[in-house]
Amino acid sequence: MAIAPPSERVWWNEPIARTELVWMIVAFLWGVIMFFTMIFWHIYGEQNLATESYRVNPESFAQRADEMIEQYTVREEDGFPVVRPPPGSEVYLIARAFQWYPLLELQKDKAYRLHLSSVDVQHDFSLQPVNINISVHPGYEHVLTITPTTLGEHGVVCNEYCGLGHHMMIGKIYVTE
Ligand code: CUA
Repeated sequence: MAIAPPSERVWWNEPIARTELVWMIVAFLWGVIMFFTMIFWHIYGEQNLATESYRVNPESFAQRADEMIEQYTVREEDGFPVVRPPPGSEVYLIARAFQWYPLLELQKDKAYRLHLSSVDVQHDFSLQPVNINISVHPGYEHVLTITPTTLGEHGVVCNEYCGLGHHMMIGKIYVTE
């Protein structure tokens, strides 16, 4: 806090000190670098998922999922259908208290369009062990283009507290040849 008024009344017309000018240029250039880093990292960082999001009615989402399940179920596991949709197709995963439905079986190195939505409260799709996290909201669907690269069994856990059974909300995605 200034107690006395500045000695130069029109201080804003004083020439800028050289070091201050240098710092201003450095800060500006750094801002420009960080801006382009964001774009670069989005494309090459292999970290940010580009999702499309749409408003959706939970009933119609569940209906589309059921159609896929009916068509491509290959076996059952603990009363859950295991669905093996053809590569390139639309794949649905329903989040609901307290399950990821159905179980999926995908082929390695094939692309799929994965639709994610909730039919009740907010959940969070967390793919293990790769640690991909996507918030899943009722009324909205995320659509991601995914290409599994690792064979084996992948767990899907819920990363958003959704009720008493939250910790039991575990799904599975099998990746096979
Ligand atoms: Cu679903 Cu926590």
